[in-house]
Amino acid sequence: MSNILVTLLALGLASSVKGGCIGEISSLDDVPTAQTCSTVNINSFTVPPGVGFTLNLTNGATVNLNGNVLFGNMSWSGPLFTVSGDNITFNGNGNIFDGGGPFYWDGLGGNGGVEKPAPMMKIKISGTYSNVVVLNSPERAYSVSNPGPLVMRNLIVDDSQGDVPNAQSNGLPAGHNTDGFDVSTTNLVIQDSLVHNQDDCLAVNRGSNIVFTRNTCINGHGISIGSIASNVTVDGVIISNNIIIDNDQALRIKADATSIGSIVTNITYSGNIAIGMRMFGILIDQSYPDTLGVPGNGVIISDINFISPQTVIEVDSGADQIAINCGIGSCEGLWNFADLSVIGGIEGPINNFTGVEGFTQT
Ligand SMILES: *[C@@H]1O[C@H](CO)[C@@H](O)[C@H](O)[C@H]1NC(C)=O
Ligand SMILES: *[C@@H]1O[C@H](CO)[C@@H](O)[C@H](O)[C@H]1NC(C)=O
Ligand SMILES: *[C@@H]1O[C@H](CO)[C@@H](O)[C@H](O)[C@H]1NC(C)=O
Ligand SMILES: *[C@@H]1O[C@H](CO)[C@@H](O)[C@H](O)[C@H]1NC(C)=O
Ligand SMILES: *[C@@H]1O[C@H](CO)[C@@H](O)[C@H](O)[C@H]1NC(C)=O
Ligand SMILES: *[C@@H]1O[C@H](CO)[C@@H](O)[C@H](O)[C@H]1NC(C)=O
Repeated sequence: MSNILVTLLALGLASSVKGGCIGEISSLDDVPTAQTCSTVNINSFTVPPGVGFTLNLTNGATVNLNGNVLFGNMSWSGPLFTVSGDNITFNGNGNIFDGGGPFYWDGLGGNGGVEKPAPMMKIKISGTYSNVVVLNSPERAYSVSNPGPLVMRNLIVDDSQGDVPNAQSNGLPAGHNTDGFDVSTTNLVIQDSLVHNQDDCLAVNRGSNIVFTRNTCINGHGISIGSIASNVTVDGVIISNNIIIDNDQALRIKADATSIGSIVTNITYSGNIAIGMRMFGILIDQSYPDTLGVPGNGVIISDINFISPQTVIEVDSGADQIAINCGIGSCEGLWNFADLSVIGGIEGPINNFTGVEGFTQT
């Protein structure tokens, strides 16, 4: 054998031995050693209050969640869990990360009351992330900023206990700002997942090439682009074949009234089914955080289309079928709404825009 070949073989062997270990995590003390391994097993344990569980994985590592992880209850900023690494295979195996939400919930979310760890789960991996259950997020559940292509699938975010008031919430639903997925990224697919919460199922704040498909959203504020702050672009989002049940609205684009220098374009909806929308079928509004307030001019929205198969939305009586509230000149072009059907409700306002094609409110 040539010297070069011997050297290559030796290097390969050394690296496979180094990374080839199986790391076992049963407490935070195990993390520094375990995260250097190519396989990392997380066993059931409780993370002490007031600290995060942070995993920085080696390229190509596989993680197996083999038991439930609970987080100690304490008011602090979070996040509770952070995972980073490239080409990771993260298998949740149906096990639970329990955020202890009822300990924090006071009906106020991020707007006051006790400080709540948020986001609960910070996902900074490429690869796949699957079969994880997040139970009772104190506030926002997932924040996703993947360094390369990532598929998230078969996930559950269960904040259903937050639907009802508790002793701290003054009659309000206890859970608030419990967003399912907050996304500012490119090359992300979220599919076959279920979110039961009290805020956005998905919120895309910026990014491109994002697909949200075959998910189920229960009780929250629907599937959102935004809110859109200043100097950001959202370009290329596909929202398809989702089921949306008992939300405030099914599909929303929300731009901050004060934003400047931002673009929302190339958003495609198809095959979504929504039942029991409380306020709107579709809401596209440039006056956020107001609803149908005075719109701003700093976010240009274009190329918003409904394509086959048809998206069908059933709204409550008294709810607007669609409402579009644009600043003068800031919604552009023609939007094809031919493959949208809205059942029930009343005609909503369309302000400063005449480009909707193929759909008439009844
Ligand atoms: C992860 O560890 C690598 C070194 O192994 C380091 O360069 C990188 O900054 C760490 N990433 C995070 C998010 O801590
Ligand atoms: C991840 O895997 C892909 C496909 O195998 C490869 O092209 C890419 O270089 C890998 N990324 C890293 C950071 O290892
Ligand atoms: C935190 O408090 C909540 C609500 O009381 C409870 O469900 C959860 O089990 C607690 N978590 C821990 C780790 O004790
Ligand atoms: C947006 O960009 C403009 C022009 O570059 C800059 O003046 C402004 O501070 C930016 N605003 C934010 C919120 O980033
Ligand atoms: C729109 O976005 C999709 C990805 O969602 C992309 O494939 C397509 O090229 C984009 N179209 C335009 C005109 O940029
Ligand atoms: C049209 O947009 C302007 C701001 O560009 C706003 O002042 C006005 O209220 C909008 N018209 C309607 C009917 O909302």
